[in-house]
Parts: sequence; structure tokens; C-alpha cells
Amino acid sequence: MTDELPPIPPHPLPVSARAPGKCILFGEHAVVHGAPELVVAIDLHTQVLVGPSSVTSLNHDPDATAKNPYFREGLARAWPDGPPIEVRAVSRIPRAAGLGSSAAFAAAFAAALGAARGGLGRPELAQRSFEIERGAQGVGSAGDTTAVVGGGYLAVNGGDGPVLWTVAGADRRWTVRRVADPKWSWVVCHSGIPRATGPAVRAVGARLARPDGPTLLAEFDRVARDGIRAVGAGDRPAVAELMRRNQELLREVGVSHPRLEALIAAAEPAAEAAKLTGAGAGGSIVALPRPGREADLVRRLARAGGLAFVVRAEPNGAALVDAPPSP
Ligand code: PMV
Repeated sequence: MTDELPPIPPHPLPVSARAPGKCILFGEHAVVHGAPELVVAIDLHTQVLVGPSSVTSLNHDPDATAKNPYFREGLARAWPDGPPIEVRAVSRIPRAAGLGSSAAFAAAFAAALGAARGGLGRPELAQRSFEIERGAQGVGSAGDTTAVVGGGYLAVNGGDGPVLWTVAGADRRWTVRRVADPKWSWVVCHSGIPRATGPAVRAVGARLARPDGPTLLAEFDRVARDGIRAVGAGDRPAVAELMRRNQELLREVGVSHPRLEALIAAAEPAAEAAKLTGAGAGGSIVALPRPGREADLVRRLARAGGLAFVVRAEPNGAALVDAPPSP
């Protein structure tokens, strides 16, 4: 295995780390069942600051361990038997939007705690961040946490070139490879309808267990494989065509939503294609803007009632933030 990004170096408390959000371009849901996925880390971040304290708290809440499963899992897996810590977290990633806010928190928190415990390699950070998210959520793939740990464009269970790392779950493993960055901007638009990953993943699992499930999964697989190749080659017409096909499949397995369909329709004149991104049934869409039409696309989506913004790939994954201020 290669490890192209630097490890998380050792750093005593107080320590600050950050991780980007993510956007799934192809293969959400199917990745849970072993199909490929293409994810891109986006330039919105969650940052955590961890310092010594007499009582463990998150954003000044000493009951956060009971209330917040991501915080609880993070402490259990990355800080077992550690002394009390004060944690502050700030995020520019909209929550419950399918843009990786929980994965970014898991990875930034695990990176900070890993630094305080002598540093850790990126494959270990990917595995630990996945376990935190999976422990908190109960279901899901390693795609989100891998995206925010690795940065840039990453193929999970697909692509070619050297394997960066593999992440092991109880029931399967996910392999991760780098995909060349085509240097495009994307427009992401939150519908305002919160989505819940767990129920959506379970519903799709039930749908794929029906007799036509294997055929559908094979088509998800093909679309994501071709999508990974097309993005890596910078082939916009092919990417647009495959995004439309991926959206049809997501509709077929029941995770679109009338609001998402309305946003996709509103994007049409200024976008080469658009699809839902993440768990769906609410959450966000991602659109490939026609060249030079980003602002027009954002305006159209805002008029249609969405919260739209332009994102670019964030090449660096989770990392320590230099010179953290004292807590
Ligand atoms: O939680 P979201 O909206 O980012 O969705 C994650 C993508 C799924 O494939 C639906 C689940 C998963 O863990 O891969």
C-alpha cells in the first residue's frame, strides 16, 4: 500500500485539527453493498480544538458524551482511558445535508486525538474515523470518512492505480484509490429537508433484496465505474450522461424526493447535469455547472428555494491546524 498524504504528526494538547466535507458524485447507496463510489472532498471544513480540562465536554456541554453519539464513539475509540478533555468544534458544513459533516467531525476529532497520542498514519486514521461514524450511525460504508481523510477525488472499490488503503468493516472491505482531479467546480444545493442516512440505507437494502435487486446493483456498479473513468479523464459530456443515469437509479430505489427533483429541474438550463448526493430522501443535490454559469446556476437554485453554493475539490484531507490558540 502507498500512503501519498503525510501522516498525522505527534502534537501535545492543546491540539487543533480540521477535515473537509465531502460530496458523492457516483455510487451512493450501492457502495454499502460493495459497488464502486466516487467521492470528492470539498472546501468547507469542520475544525476541532482539544485541550486538557477537569471535565470532559463538547462546546461547553458536559453531557455531550450521553447526547452525541459521534463524540461518544470518538472518545471510546480514539481516547480510551484518556484524561478529561475540553473539545470545541466549529463547522461550515451544513448539517444533515449529505455533505459529510459527521464524517468531518469524526476525522478531525480522531486526527487531533491521534496527534495527542503520538501521531498516526493516514490508513489508520481512515479506519478509525470509519469506526467512529459506523459506531454512531450503525450502518454505512467507509466512503464518507475516506473522502474527508484522503482529500481530492477518491474511488472507493473502483478506479485503477495503486491502492491508498483499505478500510475493514464487520461484513466487507473497501479499497481506496486516487482519481485525477479534473479541476472543475461543482454546485451543491441543500434542499432544506434534513435527511437521515440510517433509515435511507436500510430502505435501499430492502429494495435491493427484491428479485430485480442484483440487476439494479449491477447497473449502479457500471455507472459508477464509468463515472470514475470519465471524471479522471475530464470528459464532461460522459460525466453528465452518467450523472443523469445515476439519478434515475436512485429514483428507482426510492431515495429521491419531490424537492430534489424540483431542484434538479431548476438547475437544468445552467447545468450539464444534476443528481442527488448522499443518502437522499432530502439532503442535497450536486450539479455540474455549464462552463462560466456557476453564478447563474446558484441564482436559479436559490429562486427554487435551495441553499446553493459553489464548491471545489479540497486536495488535502484531514490535517492538524498549526499553532492552535489556547483553549
Ligand atoms: O450520510 P450521507 O448523506 O453522506 O450518505 C452517505 C452515502 C450512503 O451511501 C447513502 C451511505 C454510506 O455510508 O455510504
